Amino acid sequence: MTSPPNDHPVLEMRHISKRFDATQALENVSLTLYPGEVHALIGENGAGKSTLIKIMTGVHRPDAGAILLDGQATHINNSQEAQTFGIAAIYQEPMIFPDLNVAENIFISHRSRGMVVNWGRMYKDAEAILAQLDVRLDVRMPARGLTLAAQQAVEIGKAISLQVRVLIMDEPTASLSAHEVDQLFRLVNTLRNQGVAILFIGHRMEEVFRIADRITVLRDGKLISSRPKAEVKRDQVIREMVGRDAGDFFAKTRRRAAICLCRCAGSARKAPSPT
Ligand SMILES: Nc1ncnc2c1ncn2[C@@H]1O[C@H](COP(=O)(O)OP(=O)(O)O)[C@@H](O)[C@H]1O
Ligand SMILES: [Mg+2]
Repeated sequence: MTSPPNDHPVLEMRHISKRFDATQALENVSLTLYPGEVHALIGENGAGKSTLIKIMTGVHRPDAGAILLDGQATHINNSQEAQTFGIAAIYQEPMIFPDLNVAENIFISHRSRGMVVNWGRMYKDAEAILAQLDVRLDVRMPARGLTLAAQQAVEIGKAISLQVRVLIMDEPTASLSAHEVDQLFRLVNTLRNQGVAILFIGHRMEEVFRIADRITVLRDGKLISSRPKAEVKRDQVIREMVGRDAGDFFAKTRRRAAICLCRCAGSARKAPSPT
Protein backbone atom coordinates (compact mmCIF):
# COMPACT_ATOMS: atom_id res chain seq x y z
CA MET A 1 0.00 0.00 0.00
CA THR A 2 1.09 3.62 0.14
CA SER A 3 4.64 3.78 1.45
CA PRO A 4 5.23 5.00 4.95
CA PRO A 5 7.03 8.37 4.89
CA ASN A 6 10.25 6.96 6.35
CA ASP A 7 10.57 4.48 3.50
CA HIS A 8 13.32 5.54 1.11
CA PRO A 9 12.73 5.44 -2.64
CA VAL A 10 14.70 2.79 -4.48
CA LEU A 11 14.67 4.64 -7.80
CA GLU A 12 14.03 8.28 -8.58
CA MET A 13 13.79 9.81 -12.03
CA ARG A 14 14.25 13.57 -11.60
CA HIS A 15 13.36 16.15 -14.21
CA ILE A 16 14.04 13.82 -17.11
CA SER A 17 13.89 15.18 -20.68
CA LYS A 18 14.43 13.31 -23.92
CA ARG A 19 14.04 14.48 -27.51
CA PHE A 20 14.05 12.44 -30.71
CA ASP A 21 14.62 14.87 -33.60
CA ALA A 22 11.49 17.00 -33.68
CA THR A 23 9.67 15.00 -30.98
CA GLN A 24 10.01 16.01 -27.36
CA ALA A 25 9.27 12.52 -26.01
CA LEU A 26 9.76 13.56 -22.37
CA GLU A 27 9.91 17.00 -20.83
CA ASN A 28 10.90 17.46 -17.21
CA VAL A 29 9.32 14.22 -15.99
CA SER A 30 9.90 13.01 -12.43
CA LEU A 31 8.87 9.66 -10.99
CA THR A 32 9.66 8.02 -7.65
CA LEU A 33 9.51 4.27 -7.01
CA TYR A 34 9.25 2.86 -3.49
CA PRO A 35 9.99 -0.67 -2.34
CA GLY A 36 6.82 -2.71 -1.88
CA GLU A 37 4.71 -0.39 -3.99
CA VAL A 38 2.96 -0.94 -7.32
CA HIS A 39 3.20 2.26 -9.31
CA ALA A 40 1.03 2.51 -12.41
CA LEU A 41 2.27 4.67 -15.28
CA ILE A 42 -0.46 5.55 -17.72
CA GLY A 43 -1.03 7.75 -20.73
CA GLU A 44 -2.22 7.54 -24.31
CA ASN A 45 -0.07 6.16 -27.12
CA GLY A 46 2.91 8.44 -27.61
CA ALA A 47 2.72 9.91 -24.09
CA GLY A 48 6.33 8.90 -23.37
CA LYS A 49 5.87 5.82 -21.15
CA SER A 50 8.18 3.50 -23.09
CA THR A 51 10.82 6.21 -23.47
CA LEU A 52 10.87 6.69 -19.70
CA ILE A 53 11.30 2.97 -19.03
CA LYS A 54 13.96 2.69 -21.74
CA ILE A 55 15.89 5.36 -19.85
CA MET A 56 15.45 3.35 -16.63
CA THR A 57 16.76 0.22 -18.32
CA GLY A 58 19.72 1.88 -20.00
CA VAL A 59 18.42 1.67 -23.56
CA HIS A 60 18.28 5.46 -23.94
CA ARG A 61 20.22 8.21 -22.20
CA PRO A 62 18.27 11.24 -20.96
CA ASP A 63 19.14 14.64 -22.46
CA ALA A 64 18.63 16.21 -19.06
CA GLY A 65 17.72 15.16 -15.55
CA ALA A 66 19.06 12.69 -13.02
CA ILE A 67 18.53 9.08 -12.04
CA LEU A 68 18.96 8.30 -8.34
CA LEU A 69 19.37 4.78 -7.09
CA ASP A 70 19.10 4.53 -3.30
CA GLY A 71 19.53 8.30 -3.26
CA GLN A 72 22.77 8.25 -5.27
CA ALA A 73 23.02 9.85 -8.71
CA THR A 74 23.60 7.00 -11.15
CA HIS A 75 24.22 6.60 -14.86
CA ILE A 76 22.65 3.58 -16.49
CA ASN A 77 24.61 2.98 -19.67
CA ASN A 78 23.04 -0.22 -20.96
CA SER A 79 20.58 -2.92 -20.01
CA GLN A 80 23.26 -5.14 -18.53
CA GLU A 81 24.12 -2.34 -16.12
CA ALA A 82 20.45 -1.85 -15.31
CA GLN A 83 20.30 -5.56 -14.47
CA THR A 84 23.23 -5.34 -12.10
CA PHE A 85 21.44 -2.47 -10.35
CA GLY A 86 18.43 -4.77 -9.93
CA ILE A 87 16.28 -3.08 -12.58
CA ALA A 88 14.49 -5.49 -14.91
CA ALA A 89 11.67 -5.17 -17.42
CA ILE A 90 9.15 -7.59 -18.81
CA TYR A 91 7.03 -6.94 -21.85
CA GLN A 92 3.75 -8.21 -23.24
CA GLU A 93 5.69 -10.66 -25.40
CA PRO A 94 7.93 -12.59 -22.99
CA MET A 95 11.56 -12.98 -24.06
CA ILE A 96 11.74 -16.71 -23.69
CA PHE A 97 13.98 -19.20 -25.47
CA PRO A 98 11.54 -21.89 -26.61
CA ASP A 99 14.14 -24.65 -26.94
CA LEU A 100 15.53 -24.15 -23.45
CA ASN A 101 13.75 -25.53 -20.44
CA VAL A 102 12.14 -23.50 -17.67
CA ALA A 103 15.20 -23.57 -15.38
CA GLU A 104 17.58 -22.61 -18.19
CA ASN A 105 15.36 -19.68 -19.10
CA ILE A 106 15.28 -18.51 -15.49
CA PHE A 107 19.07 -18.58 -15.25
CA ILE A 108 19.91 -17.52 -18.81
CA SER A 109 21.43 -14.19 -17.77
CA HIS A 110 23.74 -15.93 -15.31
CA ARG A 111 25.05 -18.07 -18.16
CA SER A 112 25.63 -15.06 -20.39
CA ARG A 113 27.71 -13.63 -17.56
CA GLY A 114 30.00 -16.59 -17.95
CA MET A 115 28.95 -18.53 -14.89
CA VAL A 116 29.47 -22.28 -14.98
CA VAL A 117 26.30 -24.33 -14.81
CA ASN A 118 25.80 -26.80 -12.01
CA TRP A 119 22.68 -28.53 -13.39
CA GLY A 120 21.47 -30.11 -10.18
CA ARG A 121 21.78 -26.84 -8.32
CA MET A 122 20.15 -24.88 -11.14
CA TYR A 123 17.05 -27.10 -11.07
CA LYS A 124 16.82 -26.82 -7.28
CA ASP A 125 17.24 -23.05 -7.38
CA ALA A 126 14.68 -22.69 -10.17
CA GLU A 127 12.22 -24.77 -8.16
CA ALA A 128 12.85 -22.60 -5.10
CA ILE A 129 12.22 -19.41 -7.07
CA LEU A 130 8.98 -20.73 -8.53
CA ALA A 131 7.88 -21.97 -5.10
CA GLN A 132 8.53 -18.49 -3.74
CA LEU A 133 6.09 -17.25 -6.39
CA ASP A 134 3.68 -20.11 -5.66
CA VAL A 135 3.96 -21.19 -9.31
CA ARG A 136 3.81 -24.88 -10.12
CA LEU A 137 5.85 -25.68 -13.23
CA ASP A 138 8.15 -28.53 -14.19
CA VAL A 139 11.52 -26.78 -14.39
CA ARG A 140 12.80 -29.41 -16.88
CA MET A 141 9.99 -28.71 -19.33
CA PRO A 142 10.90 -26.94 -22.59
CA ALA A 143 9.58 -23.39 -22.58
CA ARG A 144 7.84 -23.77 -25.94
CA GLY A 145 4.94 -25.64 -24.33
CA LEU A 146 4.15 -22.92 -21.81
CA THR A 147 1.13 -20.65 -21.90
CA LEU A 148 1.77 -16.93 -22.19
CA ALA A 149 1.01 -16.49 -18.49
CA ALA A 150 3.44 -19.26 -17.55
CA GLN A 151 6.08 -17.66 -19.78
CA GLN A 152 5.58 -14.40 -17.89
CA ALA A 153 5.97 -16.30 -14.61
CA VAL A 154 9.29 -17.61 -15.96
CA GLU A 155 10.32 -14.06 -16.85
CA ILE A 156 9.47 -12.93 -13.34
CA GLY A 157 11.46 -15.90 -12.02
CA LYS A 158 14.36 -14.71 -14.16
CA ALA A 159 14.11 -11.25 -12.60
CA ILE A 160 14.06 -12.78 -9.11
CA SER A 161 17.18 -14.81 -9.92
CA LEU A 162 18.86 -11.48 -10.65
CA GLN A 163 17.71 -10.06 -7.30
CA VAL A 164 15.32 -7.63 -8.90
CA ARG A 165 14.53 -4.50 -6.90
CA VAL A 166 12.64 -2.61 -9.59
CA LEU A 167 10.43 -4.62 -11.92
CA ILE A 168 9.03 -2.75 -14.89
CA MET A 169 6.06 -4.32 -16.62
CA ASP A 170 5.20 -2.70 -19.96
CA GLU A 171 1.60 -3.57 -20.79
CA PRO A 172 2.00 -7.13 -19.51
CA THR A 173 -1.72 -7.89 -19.62
CA ALA A 174 -2.32 -6.87 -23.25
CA SER A 175 -2.52 -10.43 -24.59
CA LEU A 176 -3.74 -12.24 -21.47
CA SER A 177 -7.15 -13.72 -20.71
CA ALA A 178 -8.99 -12.54 -17.60
CA HIS A 179 -7.91 -15.69 -15.76
CA GLU A 180 -4.28 -15.13 -16.76
CA VAL A 181 -4.49 -11.52 -15.59
CA ASP A 182 -5.60 -12.83 -12.19
CA GLN A 183 -2.59 -15.15 -12.12
CA LEU A 184 -0.22 -12.35 -13.07
CA PHE A 185 -1.67 -10.02 -10.45
CA ARG A 186 -1.15 -12.70 -7.81
CA LEU A 187 2.53 -12.74 -8.75
CA VAL A 188 2.65 -8.95 -8.66
CA ASN A 189 1.19 -8.97 -5.16
CA THR A 190 3.73 -11.58 -4.03
CA LEU A 191 6.58 -9.43 -5.36
CA ARG A 192 5.13 -6.32 -3.73
CA ASN A 193 4.99 -8.14 -0.39
CA GLN A 194 8.63 -9.09 -0.86
CA GLY A 195 9.53 -5.40 -1.16
CA VAL A 196 10.03 -5.15 -4.93
CA ALA A 197 9.16 -1.79 -6.49
CA ILE A 198 6.89 -2.42 -9.46
CA LEU A 199 6.24 -0.03 -12.31
CA PHE A 200 3.12 -1.21 -14.10
CA ILE A 201 2.29 0.25 -17.49
CA GLY A 202 -1.29 -0.46 -18.33
CA HIS A 203 -4.15 0.92 -20.34
CA ARG A 204 -7.18 -0.81 -18.86
CA MET A 205 -8.47 1.42 -16.08
CA GLU A 206 -10.07 -1.50 -14.25
CA GLU A 207 -6.70 -3.27 -14.02
CA VAL A 208 -4.80 -0.12 -13.08
CA PHE A 209 -7.20 0.61 -10.25
CA ARG A 210 -7.10 -3.00 -9.10
CA ILE A 211 -3.34 -3.40 -8.86
CA ALA A 212 -1.80 0.05 -8.30
CA ASP A 213 -0.95 1.81 -5.07
CA ARG A 214 0.04 4.99 -6.90
CA ILE A 215 -0.93 6.32 -10.32
CA THR A 216 1.16 8.61 -12.50
CA VAL A 217 -0.28 10.15 -15.67
CA LEU A 218 1.83 11.29 -18.61
CA ARG A 219 0.50 13.26 -21.55
CA ASP A 220 2.50 14.49 -24.55
CA GLY A 221 5.76 13.79 -22.72
CA LYS A 222 4.76 15.75 -19.65
CA LEU A 223 4.00 14.67 -16.11
CA ILE A 224 0.35 15.49 -15.44
CA SER A 225 -0.14 13.96 -11.98
CA SER A 226 1.26 11.38 -9.56
CA ARG A 227 -0.87 10.44 -6.59
CA PRO A 228 -1.83 7.57 -4.31
CA LYS A 229 -4.72 5.65 -5.84
CA ALA A 230 -6.93 6.47 -2.86
CA GLU A 231 -6.80 10.13 -3.88
CA VAL A 232 -7.92 9.73 -7.51
CA LYS A 233 -11.06 8.78 -9.38
CA ARG A 234 -11.18 7.00 -12.72
CA ASP A 235 -12.92 9.87 -14.54
CA GLN A 236 -10.28 12.27 -13.36
CA VAL A 237 -7.47 9.99 -14.54
CA ILE A 238 -9.08 9.56 -17.97
CA ARG A 239 -9.51 13.33 -18.26
CA GLU A 240 -5.87 13.80 -17.39
CA MET A 241 -4.79 11.22 -19.95
CA VAL A 242 -6.71 12.71 -22.86
CA GLY A 243 -6.41 16.37 -21.90
CA ARG A 244 -9.08 18.98 -22.11
CA ASP A 245 -10.14 21.68 -24.52
CA ALA A 246 -12.19 24.39 -22.89
CA GLY A 247 -15.02 24.49 -25.48
CA ASP A 248 -16.07 20.95 -26.25
CA PHE A 249 -14.52 19.41 -23.18
CA PHE A 250 -17.10 16.73 -22.43
CA ALA A 251 -17.71 15.66 -26.01
CA LYS A 252 -14.01 15.49 -26.70
CA THR A 253 -13.22 13.56 -23.54
CA ARG A 254 -15.86 10.95 -24.30
CA ARG A 255 -14.80 10.66 -27.91
CA ARG A 256 -11.10 10.35 -27.08
CA ALA A 257 -11.74 7.94 -24.23
CA ALA A 258 -13.74 5.83 -26.68
CA ILE A 259 -10.92 6.00 -29.23
CA CYS A 260 -8.48 4.94 -26.56
CA LEU A 261 -10.61 2.00 -25.54
CA CYS A 262 -11.05 0.87 -29.16
CA ARG A 263 -7.33 1.12 -29.78
CA CYS A 264 -6.62 -0.85 -26.66
CA ALA A 265 -9.11 -3.54 -27.58
CA GLY A 266 -7.72 -3.64 -31.12
CA SER A 267 -4.16 -4.01 -29.93
CA ALA A 268 -4.95 -6.85 -27.57
CA ARG A 269 -4.16 -9.65 -29.99
CA LYS A 270 -1.71 -8.10 -32.42
CA ALA A 271 0.77 -7.02 -29.81
CA PRO A 272 3.53 -4.94 -31.39
CA SER A 273 6.97 -4.97 -29.86
CA PRO A 274 7.14 -2.26 -27.20
CA THR A 275 7.97 1.12 -28.71
N1 LIG B 1 13.50 5.89 -31.12
C1 LIG B 1 12.64 6.88 -31.42
N2 LIG B 1 12.86 7.70 -32.46
C2 LIG B 1 12.02 8.71 -32.75
N3 LIG B 1 10.90 8.98 -32.05
C3 LIG B 1 10.60 8.19 -31.00
C4 LIG B 1 11.46 7.10 -30.63
N4 LIG B 1 10.92 6.48 -29.54
C5 LIG B 1 9.79 7.17 -29.25
N5 LIG B 1 9.59 8.19 -30.12
C6 LIG B 1 8.49 9.16 -30.10
O1 LIG B 1 8.43 9.67 -28.77
C7 LIG B 1 7.07 9.84 -28.36
C8 LIG B 1 6.84 9.00 -27.12
O2 LIG B 1 6.85 7.63 -27.49
P1 LIG B 1 6.75 6.44 -26.44
O3 LIG B 1 7.68 6.71 -25.32
O4 LIG B 1 6.92 5.19 -27.19
O5 LIG B 1 5.25 6.60 -25.92
P2 LIG B 1 4.27 5.52 -25.25
O6 LIG B 1 5.09 4.37 -24.80
O7 LIG B 1 3.63 6.28 -24.13
O8 LIG B 1 3.27 5.14 -26.29
C9 LIG B 1 6.22 9.41 -29.55
O9 LIG B 1 5.90 10.57 -30.28
C10 LIG B 1 7.15 8.53 -30.34
O10 LIG B 1 6.81 8.52 -31.70
MG1 LIG C 1 4.85 2.27 -25.22
